[in-house]
Amino acid sequence: MTAIDTSIGPDRARELFRAELADVRTDAELQALRTRWVGRKGSWVAAFMEALATATPEQKKTFGRGANELKKEVEATIAEREAALAAARRPAHAVDITLPGRTPALGHRHPLSLIRDEVGAIFTRLGYQVLEGPEIEDDYHNFEALNMPEEHPARDMQDTLYLATPTFASADASVGRPRGKAPWPPQPLTLLRTHTSAMQIRHMEQNAPPVRLVAIGPVYRKDNLDLTHTPMFHQVEGLVVGKGVTLADLKGTLAAMAEALFGAGTGVRFRPSFFPYTEPSAEVDIQCIKCKGAGCAMCKRTGWIEILGSGMVHPAVFEAVGYDPNEITGFAFGMGVERVALLKWGVEDIRLFYENDLRFLEQFGL
Ligand code: DAH
Repeated sequence: MTAIDTSIGPDRARELFRAELADVRTDAELQALRTRWVGRKGSWVAAFMEALATATPEQKKTFGRGANELKKEVEATIAEREAALAAARRPAHAVDITLPGRTPALGHRHPLSLIRDEVGAIFTRLGYQVLEGPEIEDDYHNFEALNMPEEHPARDMQDTLYLATPTFASADASVGRPRGKAPWPPQPLTLLRTHTSAMQIRHMEQNAPPVRLVAIGPVYRKDNLDLTHTPMFHQVEGLVVGKGVTLADLKGTLAAMAEALFGAGTGVRFRPSFFPYTEPSAEVDIQCIKCKGAGCAMCKRTGWIEILGSGMVHPAVFEAVGYDPNEITGFAFGMGVERVALLKWGVEDIRLFYENDLRFLEQFGL
C-alpha cells in the first residue's frame, strides 16, 4: 500500500485506487479501502481536500477538478462493489449447493433376474415366446406325460417335494378341457415341480403346433443346502415343435445361445445321454469360459463344462398331448439359471444368490 502523498496528483492516485479495489474480496477489505480513501481523517481524499485549502489559485486549477472526480469515483465504485458483495452473500440458513451430495442407495438387479432376462431376450430375438407356468404341479404334468409312468426308474432321479395337503388349480387356471389325453377332471396338485419340463406338456395341451417357447422359473428338489445345491433353483426350458425340426436345429440353436450368453467363439459339444422324454438325448457342454478349453480347475482339466440336458422330443410325449409324431418332430432342452450365473461371474457358492448380502448384490448391474 502506497503511503498517502498528494504530490503524485489525482490521476495517479486514481490508478492506485483502482489497483487496490481490484484486490478487494471481502466486506471487511472493502470497509478498510473506504476508510483509507474517503475516510473523514487521514484518507487520500481528505488529504487532497486539505492540500486544496492551502493551494495557490494556479494549483487549484490544475488538480481541484481531478480531486473532486477522484472523490466521486471512489464513492461510487465502493458503493457499487458493496452492493455486488451483498448480492453474492449467502442468506442465513441457505443450502450450500456446492457441498457434495449424499449418494442415494440405488437398488441393483438380482444376478438371477439378469440371467433370466438375458436368456428371455436371446430367445425372444429368435422368435420364441417366453412363459412361466405354475410352480405347484400334478403328477401327470411333471412326470407321467413326460414318459415317466409310475414306477418308472427315472422318477428316482429327482427327489420330489410333495405337498402335505394336495390342492386344485383355481378355476381360471385351466382353460377349458385340454387337448390330448390329459386326465379330466384336472388332477390334484400334489408336488412342487421338479423341472420346467412340465411346461412343455401344459403348453402343447392347449396349443396346436408349431411351438417355439422358453419357460423360465423356479423348480424344487429335496436337496440339502450346500455349495452347489439348493432346494429351490431356476430352470430355462426350451421347446420347438414343427414339421421337419431336426437335431441340427437343436445344435445350431444351443450353439447360438452359448455364444450369446458366454461370448463369441464359445464352443459347444454334445454327449449322448438319457432322458425319458427325449430320444435321442444329449448333455451339452460349453467350452470352459475360463481357460477356453485348455484345462483348468474350473473345468476339472477337461476344457468343457456341462450346462444343460436336451434331445429330440420322444414320440410318447407328443402322443400324450395329442400331437401326431408322424407329422411333426421337435427338440427340447433344460438349463439351470444358477449354473449359468455361477459360470458367468465365477461365483463359487450357490447360496450367495439367496442370502441377500448387499456386498454381493451390489456387484451386479442396475
Ligand atoms: N428336465 C431335465 C432336468 O431337470 C433337463 C432337461 C433335459 C430338459 C432334457 C429337457 C430335455 O427339455 O430335453 O435336469
